[in-house]
Amino acid sequence: MPAVRADKLYKIFGRRPTRAVELLADGRHRDDIKSLNVTAAVIDVSFEVQPGEIFVVMGLSGSGKSTLIRMLNGLLPHTSGTVEIDGTDITKLGKSELRKLRSDKVSMVFQHFALFPHRTVLENAAYGLEVRGVPRAERETKAREALAMVGLDGWEVKVPGQLSGGMQQRVGLARALAADTEIILMDEAFSALDPLIRRDMQTQLLELQASLGKTIVFITHDLNEAMRLGDRICVLRDGRVAQIGKAEEILNDPANDYVANFIEDVDRTRVLTASSVMEKPIPVIDPGQGPRTALRTMRDNQTPWAFVVQRDRRLMGVVGESAIAEAVRDNVKELAGLVGAAERVSPDTAVADMFVQAAESSYPLAVIDDDERLVGVIPRGTLLAALATPGGGEENGADEAAETASAADEASRADESASGSGAGDSGADDSGAEPGDDAPATEGSRR
Ligand SMILES: Nc1ncnc2c1ncn2[C@@H]1O[C@H](COP(=O)(O)OP(=O)(O)OP(=O)(O)O)[C@@H](O)[C@H]1O
Ligand SMILES: [Mg+2]
Repeated sequence: MPAVRADKLYKIFGRRPTRAVELLADGRHRDDIKSLNVTAAVIDVSFEVQPGEIFVVMGLSGSGKSTLIRMLNGLLPHTSGTVEIDGTDITKLGKSELRKLRSDKVSMVFQHFALFPHRTVLENAAYGLEVRGVPRAERETKAREALAMVGLDGWEVKVPGQLSGGMQQRVGLARALAADTEIILMDEAFSALDPLIRRDMQTQLLELQASLGKTIVFITHDLNEAMRLGDRICVLRDGRVAQIGKAEEILNDPANDYVANFIEDVDRTRVLTASSVMEKPIPVIDPGQGPRTALRTMRDNQTPWAFVVQRDRRLMGVVGESAIAEAVRDNVKELAGLVGAAERVSPDTAVADMFVQAAESSYPLAVIDDDERLVGVIPRGTLLAALATPGGGEENGADEAAETASAADEASRADESASGSGAGDSGADDSGAEPGDDAPATEGSRR
């Protein structure tokens, strides 16, 4: 069963949503129905997120990402369609059931941290559990553990204003981890961070994910971030799904020109992995074969090298034509002694991480699975060819991750931060704000 499932999901802001859905379901673009005075933010969106998956939703500003993610935990009511969490259609739940869902099953991390400025780091991290009514000792233990997971042990008694932006975002993440929900929604969670810190956070998220196996829906408008984090990526355009697929599928086979344009300046070397650029491991020879046979095999295949693999396909090494030819002239009968070490990479190795090895070896790189079996080879030329875009454009290695939230971007998020400042520090009870979802942001205390 998928952890999260959206089916023909719509969100229309404005007075006449039903008519709008009809027209949109008919294939109309959202600009065509302007006369209805509605904003179609999310249109006919369907996808499934499997447990343990990082599902990235990516799109330009205004494409409907935040609207979509807020429907996944019931923070925003939908217009039509369904949202299922662990098989339960949450569009049918009442307010208190939704609140329970958000505290027990689906936590959310916002771009602007949404921390309480006057509470300690520890109390902030424990907040989700506090809302759930977990006794103090227990929630503080869990919060400490979560803070340690994100590298913030020792900072428990500080307040958010004493922390850098990156550290504050770690507190936000720790809060979600302490709440220990299976599903974590992250809306531009790293977008306010500077590029290096952002990269650290991505790495940390991937590590946490590998050990905790959370289901994560991660929103970003940074393609490199999407490609790095996402097991699969959903590209939204004007409220509709333009494409859903693995990073490599989207890169190698964009569904349309829109997606193709979008991915034009992604750093392909970080996205493409050995498994997507490798070639069939040909030729291979058996260690029992002699130099003469090895030489014939290489000449038949017109390669100056051959990989030596055992019957079970485990890689022993590589031989080169000139050494073998010399051995044949010298009447050497055994291959042993002529086999050199091959440079090995795993199927998941990023292309960017293979260049040094490729430069150090005069043979192709050997792609080895967990059992040391040879599953592919990567000649140097293939490595370079992989950098060219599918349309034949030139390579682009620039890392353009740096981007700051625009003023418009800030404004559109005002709803996230507005409720907090007046609500004082107690947050959990009053003001009609959703506990845990709308905790005050710390705009004032951020540096
Ligand atoms: N409460 C609202 N009332 C009316 N229109 C809204 C509301 N919230 C969002 N919209 C509109 O819905 C569309 C999608 O907005 P949304 O915030 O989901 O986009 P986004 O992809 O998250 O953008 P960004 O990258 O800027 O955060 C936009 O046209 C936006 O103006
Ligand atoms: Mg948004």
